[in-house]
Amino acid sequence: MPARATVLLKSSRSLQSFFIETAMTAPTYNLMLRQAQLRDRPEPVDIGIEAGRIAAIAPRLPQTGQQEIDAAGQLVSPPFVESHIHLDSALTAGEPRWNESGTLFEGIQIWGERKQHLTLEDVKARAIATLKLQAQQGVLYVRSHADVSEPDLIALKGLLEVREAVRDWLTLQVVAFPQDGLYSQPHNDALLEEALKLGADVVGGIPHYELTREDGVRSVARIFDLADRYDRLIDIHCDEIDDEQSRFLEVMAAAAIRRDNGARVTASHTTAFGSYNNAYAYKLMGFLQRSRLNFIANPLINITLQGRTDTYPKRRGVTRVKELWQAGLNVSLGHDCVQDPWYRFGTGNMLDVAHMAVHVCQMTGGAETEACFDMVTHQGAQTLHCASDYAIAVGNPANLILLDASDAHEAIRRRSAVRAVVSRGKRLTQTVPARTDWLG
Ligand code: FE2
Repeated sequence: MPARATVLLKSSRSLQSFFIETAMTAPTYNLMLRQAQLRDRPEPVDIGIEAGRIAAIAPRLPQTGQQEIDAAGQLVSPPFVESHIHLDSALTAGEPRWNESGTLFEGIQIWGERKQHLTLEDVKARAIATLKLQAQQGVLYVRSHADVSEPDLIALKGLLEVREAVRDWLTLQVVAFPQDGLYSQPHNDALLEEALKLGADVVGGIPHYELTREDGVRSVARIFDLADRYDRLIDIHCDEIDDEQSRFLEVMAAAAIRRDNGARVTASHTTAFGSYNNAYAYKLMGFLQRSRLNFIANPLINITLQGRTDTYPKRRGVTRVKELWQAGLNVSLGHDCVQDPWYRFGTGNMLDVAHMAVHVCQMTGGAETEACFDMVTHQGAQTLHCASDYAIAVGNPANLILLDASDAHEAIRRRSAVRAVVSRGKRLTQTVPARTDWLG
């Protein structure tokens, strides 16, 4: 009996007709992508996948695959990276009430009420549903914050269980995040350390929400100490406020410079940086370049939450993404919230995030738009410290996505569907792009 191969047709109209089977000689590869357009190659290539890894890349591979996907010259990319999301609160919008002021701080109050009713099953079910929503849209690397301000650490324990449950198809990092502040309650400091003992990957913080500036400075030092002691990465919610006097970013930069660990440290949000006067911002940028910190901006959320106390002109409330990128610093983008007390919208689609960044950060030039695509792919991988085998290259794990787009610009412009997701060398999802028939 000849081996059989499955061929994915670009023009298929339904899932039922998505595949045809053809008799072929013995296949060489488990999976073959035909005519995939990579961003760093002038012409499409074939990609052979074997035993979960990329085995060959060439303009025309003579071998066949047990399964084949015809990319037909469309864009193939490494997976999207979600570098900042809160899976513990995802899909709770309206519970127990809606955020009518639209502010970050009403969101924290509502979440404070909702989290009194968390159960492990509740957290796990919503987190896995959100991860599946993201994975079908090409996200295979996720960093999620887990609120460790409640005494039973249910959010954290739930997400650690989810991390193991999805390990075969998605890489999940969990940040121990003291949402209510490290020093706002006597037990919060111990809860953060307990979260690290339980296995959180990253130490988080929220210095601008501590009771005093001194507490905020002290919290940054404590977070860096814990990261050293438990050998963990750092990702701090930093200066997520319109207050131009909120200046914990300089505290983080100083700590990273002195400990020479900036590549392992991320400053998330840093929206106050958008309000600093230019003289201070210019000085700070030099320190940031010395520190080599990573940055994460969340343009969907911060264009929504920030500027709420402004009249007009209203600030955009997003950090200086373009200037950080131009300064050579690593910047990635996060969705932050999906249907939760801070943001009742949200699709989990990283192209929505990049699309908003292009607009809010005014990154509409050719290289700038490409950079925004990098911020939801390669630069996110750098933030998560998983960039070493992330790229589409021979020998790397076969994690890649096929977009219904010819290039990164079109993908962002149309927020194109992800036609196929390959994880660990296996097809994980397939999507048939929406089609309209003109009947007039
Ligand atoms: Fe956040």
